[in-house]
Amino acid sequence: MVLVTGAAGKTGLAVINALKAHNKGVRALIHREAQVNRVTSAGASEVVIGDMRDQALMHEAMSGLRKVYHICPNVNPDELTIGKLAIEAARENHISHFVYHSVLHPQVEMMPHHWLKMRVEEAIFESGLYFTILQPAPYMQNILAGWDAIVSSGIYTFPYHEATRLTLVDLMDVAQVALNVLTTPGHAGAIYELCGPDALNQIEIAAIIGDRLGIQVSTQQIDRLDWERQAKERGLGTYQIESLLKMFDYYERFGFIGSSSVIDWLLGRRSMSFSAFIDELVRPKIV
Ligand SMILES: NC(=O)c1ccc[n+]([C@@H]2O[C@H](COP(=O)([O-])OP(=O)(O)OC[C@H]3O[C@@H](n4cnc5c(N)ncnc54)[C@H](OP(=O)(O)O)[C@@H]3O)[C@@H](O)[C@H]2O)c1
Repeated sequence: MVLVTGAAGKTGLAVINALKAHNKGVRALIHREAQVNRVTSAGASEVVIGDMRDQALMHEAMSGLRKVYHICPNVNPDELTIGKLAIEAARENHISHFVYHSVLHPQVEMMPHHWLKMRVEEAIFESGLYFTILQPAPYMQNILAGWDAIVSSGIYTFPYHEATRLTLVDLMDVAQVALNVLTTPGHAGAIYELCGPDALNQIEIAAIIGDRLGIQVSTQQIDRLDWERQAKERGLGTYQIESLLKMFDYYERFGFIGSSSVIDWLLGRRSMSFSAFIDELVRPKIV
């Protein structure tokens, strides 16, 4: 049985699905009662509900278990506090393997949410825990948030220059790696950078989508002020908005590129390319 924190988010659900497919039991730490069905449908057999900033809850969630897969909510100002609470609870419960879902290039101070993950990694090093850290690139699945609009309008939008290159990774591949490190030996003290094989710019991404859909897909950079207004309308907080704006700026100036060598080695195959990911998305489903 593995505790998965942040279990009802897209990462948590993918990790639960991967564990379930290999008959590994999951206890899910979720935020709200309304998320119970989501995680039990994915395969969690036990559920703990509450706030990760609550030390007693963290302790209870790990009670009687040996393994933890810690996922902090995305762009969270309390990431370091939550990370330290998770580490402390893991030590108290004598957790034998603590896996932390970090991010590609946490070393970048210019992106506050990455820098907080670096600080959590530092606390893990000092904890004495048997640990593994995964550092995924942005997911290919992030494209899905705007998928219907791309299909209906033929316009792919993003809040940075169209020349910005990213090595997007398939979340399902990341979840397979999570399963692999949780269930096979040899990952003590390891830090794994997880990136897809292509460093595509936004024009190349639009071209692949257009080719697979059989339509012309053009690119459109969203004005940052418009993005900020829409983010406020969606209920994003100040920390989230400021951090994401800094991230867009960083992506645009430097790109966000890593290597797929490590994920290929961990999977024992080539990781998903962006074109194969879109192929799978548009392939008619047999029901
Ligand atoms: N998205 C990417 O491309 C990407 C790439 C690399 C790494 N990551 C990292 O992956 C992690 C997970 O991202 P995600 O998008 O899957 O997560 P997410 O959608 O933010 O989901 C996390 C879950 O945590 C819950 N939550 C929020 N605040 C909580 C609290 N105080 N206590 C307990 N639970 C709480 C959320 O519930 P509510 O709905 O109630 O808020 C949600 O169900 C993040 O740390 C992110 O940095 C993401």
